[in-house]
Amino acid sequence: MAVTDRRERLDPDMDKIARAGLKELGDIRIDDVLSFIDRGIEKMPSYMDLYRRWESQQWSVGDLDFSLDRVDWEQSSEIEKKATLWSHRLFFNGEERVTATLAPFVWAAPTPEIEIFLSTQMVDEARHTVFFQRWWHEVVGTDAKDLSTLLAEIRPHANEGYNTLFYDLLPATAQRLASNPKDFDAFVEGVTMYHIVIEATIALTGQRFELESMREQGLTDRGFYQGFTAVARDESRHVNFGIKVLQEAVRSDAERYAPLIQKTLLQCLPLITGVLDPPDPTYITEFGHTESEILQFAFDSLNKRLRAIGINLAA
Ligand SMILES: [Fe+2]
Ligand SMILES: [Fe+2]
Repeated sequence: MAVTDRRERLDPDMDKIARAGLKELGDIRIDDVLSFIDRGIEKMPSYMDLYRRWESQQWSVGDLDFSLDRVDWEQSSEIEKKATLWSHRLFFNGEERVTATLAPFVWAAPTPEIEIFLSTQMVDEARHTVFFQRWWHEVVGTDAKDLSTLLAEIRPHANEGYNTLFYDLLPATAQRLASNPKDFDAFVEGVTMYHIVIEATIALTGQRFELESMREQGLTDRGFYQGFTAVARDESRHVNFGIKVLQEAVRSDAERYAPLIQKTLLQCLPLITGVLDPPDPTYITEFGHTESEILQFAFDSLNKRLRAIGINLAA
């Protein structure tokens, strides 16, 4: 049998999550979606497995219905509105930033399988950006005539960690790859920052707490819940990919690549705390959580990914 015909075998529970449509995603817990990453760590999927997962996990922003979300929004308190806007500004702008900077990674891909997977990821990130654009128009409301006007309107200026990560370090890495696509060191550093720091540690932590608090409030039939769970399922594929790339690099030459990954992580660690730190602590405590609980979850996730890659931060 040709390699390309080989199907990934998943147990029935995992298969249900892997194949769920948007409506069914309302019945699925974010922690079960995230368990795909841990499963990937036990039995690493191939790049083409991840490609095939992408094919079977297509979804459309246009299929979501935000009418109940709109009613919720009108009835929500000032503090709820402020907290949601704080978080969604970071996500919306962040999705656009990662869409804009991924192309050089495709060009610098060391193998065609990696190039193919990263091409699917570019489409995902574009779709995530459109997801937030539509949510903003239909739930919050805006007069912005086009996406760049809306992005300028929602850009989170006040967050220093965020600015450094998304407007300084990430574009600089993408530029290094664009200038020299054969620079595999830059590719390893870029995947560490993009897939491990931004996606695995920051984005999935924020998504996990927001989706869990929507579930606790019985809001799983909302368009936002279903779409954001689909986003999280996409992100879990991206994170599996990032772990795989770095694990292979470390296995091929630990002396060279482990210190490069560690150096990038040390540079980004204070920024993780900065991004997840809200301007007002009630943005978190109002929803029954604490900032230290969120940071703990973020760093536990990061440590799990690092163990899978085969390094630890202290080494
Ligand atoms: Fe994304
Ligand atoms: Fe992503």
